[in-house]
Formats: sequence, structure tokens, C-alpha cells
Amino acid sequence: MADLNSEIDVDIDVQEILLAASQHDVRKLRTLIRSNKVPDPVNVKDSETGYSPLHAAIAACEPDEQPTNGEPNGIHADDAGDNEQQKTLDEGINTVKFLLQEGAIWNDLDLKNETPGCLARRLGLTELYELMVDAGVRAELLLNRLEGYEQLSDDEEENEGDDNAETAETTTATTAPDASEETSREAGDSTGDPDVTNPRYLESNLTFQNDRLLDEDQNGVMMAWESDIMAKSAKKLLPTPGLRVLNIGHGMGIVDGFFQEQSPAAHHIVEAHPDVVAEMKRKGWHEKPGVQIHQGRWQDVLPKLVEQGETFDAIYYDTFAESYADFREFMSEQVIGLLEPTGQFGFFNGMGADRQISYDVYQKVVEMDVFEAGFDVDWEEIRVPKLEGEWSGVRRPYWVVDNYRLPTCRYMD
Ligand SMILES: C[S@@+](CC[C@H](N)C(=O)[O-])C[C@H]1O[C@@H](n2cnc3c(N)ncnc32)[C@H](O)[C@@H]1O
Repeated sequence: MADLNSEIDVDIDVQEILLAASQHDVRKLRTLIRSNKVPDPVNVKDSETGYSPLHAAIAACEPDEQPTNGEPNGIHADDAGDNEQQKTLDEGINTVKFLLQEGAIWNDLDLKNETPGCLARRLGLTELYELMVDAGVRAELLLNRLEGYEQLSDDEEENEGDDNAETAETTTATTAPDASEETSREAGDSTGDPDVTNPRYLESNLTFQNDRLLDEDQNGVMMAWESDIMAKSAKKLLPTPGLRVLNIGHGMGIVDGFFQEQSPAAHHIVEAHPDVVAEMKRKGWHEKPGVQIHQGRWQDVLPKLVEQGETFDAIYYDTFAESYADFREFMSEQVIGLLEPTGQFGFFNGMGADRQISYDVYQKVVEMDVFEAGFDVDWEEIRVPKLEGEWSGVRRPYWVVDNYRLPTCRYMD
């Protein structure tokens, strides 16, 4: 009986916090959060909707439906409505900022599988959406840095790094899949899929079909619907014949086919999966003009190419089952030794592409890391066709956003 009472008390405390958030009552929220009557008060959840205080504060800004045929002098009524709406929005913005300062999780999911940012976007609340994107960028940058410390601790400071590692994990619990664990076409998200790591993937048997390449767990390694993206990427990186190109990750050979069309002077391909290499040989890739196949992980192959003094006008990176940290290492450690001063590099930009807000967050994160590595990036938007029919037989749709942002990177002036 005592337990039941305390459960009821907790539920009342939770509802009080959510109500104050939805009323944009920052003063009351501050008191309730500081009183710490429930664990992690700024991240409580409504049991029926799964709303967090951030969801509640944003949902309360939902614009009223505009009357379609108003009164003859409806201008005044609309003005009053607009003012009221703006006031609510301003209060909502204050409340969201306050909650974020207090440690609210930016990508917590409600029972409709929406983060607070997804909700803001669906309701057309652009300012609130942008606030949530910026919160995501801050959190992901921090997480990536902590992952760096975690790696450092594995290598150099066995005991000291453990606290950091734990923080990184708890920050993402019960949240949308963390894009930092997903570069292109990753599985292993929070939906219970088998954990796809690079070593596990490289040991798995692959299935080659006409329009797709699948791993043992039916994860889409590569799919033919990406052909337009590959064609445009190849053309941007190799605009004229006679250039030298390095492609990392052969997959279905789509981008390499487009590189060949540009008659490169040299065409190096790094591929780690033995099944893909066998398929390349079967299709005679080793006999195509300028082609040199390097079997192995880029982490092992690229330092050898640097040692041999190989350089390229264009480099493309599109691997599978690697983390954002791997991509960052490639970009900041390897490119500089291989790319000509006037050269360009690109990559398959699929980070966070299974959710618009994650894609927007990761565009900013990538941009910052590209700058930090000493490059400028130029983005071209490409409309992605509707892909509903594409996913049958594939474990997880890895692409849901409407536009692909194609990156081309050059050394900074
Ligand atoms: C998404 S596919 C590439 C698709 C390719 N862009 C195309 O147009 O078909 C990814 C490829 O990267 C390879 N790969 C994964 N990890 C790798 C690594 N560490 N080094 C080199 N290749 C890797 C995979 O075996 C796979 O063939």
C-alpha cells in the first residue's frame, strides 16, 4: 500500500512538471526541478504520450487553425490571434531554452517515436526546430569528443577514462538512434537490430542481387536507388578525363562505374570485404583501365599508399558499418597525405538519414569537423525519389529524408 501511495505521489510530481512545461511557467518549472522530488526531473515522461517536458513545452505552441472564411473585418481578429500566437511561441522558446540549460535530452522519443524537434517540425514551428537542432549539435559534438577520450583511455589511460565512457552511453539511453554511431547505411540502432560492427560485417556472407547488396542480417549495404547520387558525386569529383581517383568501398561498383566513364589516369579501389573483392574479380574490375584493387581495410591500406607517395585528384569515401569516429579519422588523418593541393574529396552523406533532425544535426557537426580538418565544404541538394517500395526484404530503411546533401570538400585557401 505504501508503494502504491508513493507511486501516485511520483505520478503527481511528474504531471506537475509536465503541466508547468506546457504552461511555459519557467518559474514553477525551476522550483519543481530544483526540488528533485523525482529522479532526473527535467527528463520525466508522461506514461500515456511519452512526452518529456520539452515535448510538452513544444506541443503547447501548436498554432490554432486559421478560420478559412473569416468575418468581413477579420483582419483585426487575425491580428489579435497572431499576437497571441507569437506570445505563446516566445514563451515556448524561453521554456525550451531553460529546459535545455537544465540538461533536458534533445533526442528523447515519445510514444509516437518523435523527438521534441520532430514534433516542432511537424507543427511547423521553425524557430523551435532550429533550437532543437542546435541543442543536438552541441550534444553530438560533446559526445564525439568524449568518444575520443574513451579511445584515448583504452590506449593510454586504462582506468581514468571510464567515467567519460559511461557519460557518453547514458546520455543516449532511451533516445533516438545516435547518429555518431551511424555513418552510412548503419544498422545496430535502438530498435533491437543485431549490432552491426565493422568486424562482424566483414565476416558475414553477402548476397548480391540486381538492385541491392545485403549482409547476413539483411542490412542494406548498398542499393541501386542511390545511383543518381553516385553519378553526381563521381561527376563532381572527376569533372574531366585523365585525373587520378581513389575510391574507398566498392559495394555494387556503382560509383566506380561512373568514375570509369570519366576515363581516369589512375583508379585505385580499396575494398575490405572478401566477397566484394571476389565479385570484383568475377566482373573483371582488375582488368579495367587504370584500376588497381587494394584488398583490406582503408585503415591498413591508406598509410601504405601514403608511404608509396601516391596522390590523387579525387577521393571518395563510402564504407559500411563504420562509426562517425572512423569517418572523422579518415578525414582528419588520411586525406591530407593523399589528396593533391587542388584535389577534392567527397563521401556518402548518410549520417542520421533515418530522421530529418538527425540529418540536419549531422550536417552541422560534419561541417565543423571538415573545417577543423582544414577543408571547405560545398553542399548540393538532390531530391531523393519516394522509396516506399524499396525496403521490402531489407532489415531497416536507412533513408527517410527528402533531400540528399552532396558534399564536395577542398583544402581551405
Ligand atoms: C555502401 S558500400 C559502397 C557502395 C559504392 N559507393 C557503390 O557505388 O556501389 C560500402 C563498401 O565499403 C566496404 N567497406 C566496409 N568497411 C570498409 C573498410 N574499413 N575499408 C574498406 N572498405 C570497407 C564494404 O565491404 C562495401 O563494399
